[in-house]
Amino acid sequence: MPLSVVILAAGQGKRMKSDLPKVLQPVAGRPLLKHVIDTARELAASDIHVVYGHGGEQVRAALASENVTWALQAEQHGTGHAVQQAMPGVPDDHLVLVLYGDVPLTPASTLQRLIDAAAAGEALGILSVRMKDPTGYGRIIRDRAGTVARIVEHNDANQKERVIDEVNTGLMAASAKRLREWLAQLRNDNAQGEYYLTDVVVLAARAGLKVNAIPADSEDEVLGVNDKVQLAEVEAVYRKRRATQLMLQGVTLVDPARFDARGPLTVGRDVHVDVNVVFEGVVKLGHRVRIGPNVVIRDSEIGDDTVVFPNCVIDRASIGPNCNIGPFARFRPSSSLAAGVHVGNFVEVKNSILGAGAKANHLTYLGDATVGEKVNVGAGTVTCNYDGANKWRTEIGAGAFIGSGAMLVAPVKIGAGATIGAGSTITKDAPEDKLTLERSKQLTLDGWQRPVKQPKG
Ligand code: UD1
Ligand code: CA
Repeated sequence: MPLSVVILAAGQGKRMKSDLPKVLQPVAGRPLLKHVIDTARELAASDIHVVYGHGGEQVRAALASENVTWALQAEQHGTGHAVQQAMPGVPDDHLVLVLYGDVPLTPASTLQRLIDAAAAGEALGILSVRMKDPTGYGRIIRDRAGTVARIVEHNDANQKERVIDEVNTGLMAASAKRLREWLAQLRNDNAQGEYYLTDVVVLAARAGLKVNAIPADSEDEVLGVNDKVQLAEVEAVYRKRRATQLMLQGVTLVDPARFDARGPLTVGRDVHVDVNVVFEGVVKLGHRVRIGPNVVIRDSEIGDDTVVFPNCVIDRASIGPNCNIGPFARFRPSSSLAAGVHVGNFVEVKNSILGAGAKANHLTYLGDATVGEKVNVGAGTVTCNYDGANKWRTEIGAGAFIGSGAMLVAPVKIGAGATIGAGSTITKDAPEDKLTLERSKQLTLDGWQRPVKQPKG
């Protein structure tokens, strides 16, 4: 049966106490709702419907690039009412999977079990979980034979029912045809005056359909987010999940609780990651890469045997093998380093290409520069790439030696093997293999005296 996924995301999330709608609150840098949409895609859904309401335009704008159908629920009259808003767009012969925009961590494998439990639309599948503290959740009521008979919401439950620790996660799968019929029969004569989606369970049971309660693998994977405390809990579960995956792939994490992988991370063998390292976007690490403490790496690639020393920020860089980076180095977007490059402390590199074995070890800015093989850039060198209106490139030929404190005013070319005297301001191209310097002659003035302090008043 083709699959339609309906994601409920119209709730306000008052308890977040935030101007950002709840489903846009980030976990691992991605909105909660985006996590749910991404999981729906893993299930190869033929269509995805998002029921939105509160902060509607903001939600749609934030996820404008997603190929989903938006269904407006202008007023929130309950989860049953919410699903109903999406149903006009769902064909009768589809299976419907209902997900919540604020339950971001349920793996596709668990959802697949739920889908299978509603197989061919001949049963209703509900995802359940046992909770140490079931307060607030809908309880699953079974008859004497152990068959699921109905769900009772916490607010509607009596003392005996409240003891039950098998709860409804809210996630559900059923045939669109049946669901449509049941939704039309819902009533709001309950504690909250809402149309409860959960009431379809009793309708299914009465119609003689089997209700399959599928247990989730853990409480963690069905955690919902209502406030910032739960948001942090979900972030912690996500962090731990990513850390565990990586350690099982052979990565050494000095402390898995002080490590964040927020996007796709590919690793070679024997990678070593120290504490407080954050990976964002798509990151690729080669074999035996070592990352020191307090490093942020975003959308970058790092070659085999490269060492990143503490406190570096690396953004959209491609770093070759056997490089030494940092401590305290910063890469702004679009740089590419060949093998064996050293970029040391307080060096900023932007939109530059560094050839094999090039070194810039201290206090330097390389922006819009092409640096040849084995160039040595002395401390305090600046490529002056901006004239106040335009950016220009600096080209430094292979084997050149740039003395400390040189200002290379772009556009400018330094020939291969050239030497630039320390402290020079270079505004014209410098020839190959020669010493070029730009300095006034050193003078010593005889009889010169330091100024003396004038008496006051
Ligand atoms: C729901 C279930 C309950 C379950 C719990 C799990 C019902 C009646 N109850 O309760 O059995 O244990 O989830 O967390 O379904 N939403 C809308 N429009 C609405 C109402 C809700 O889009 O009119 C969305 C919310 O944004 C949220 C989801 O539906 O993503 C769940 O709504 P919520 O109010 O949190 O449901 P609960 O009362 O907690
Ligand atoms: Ca809830």
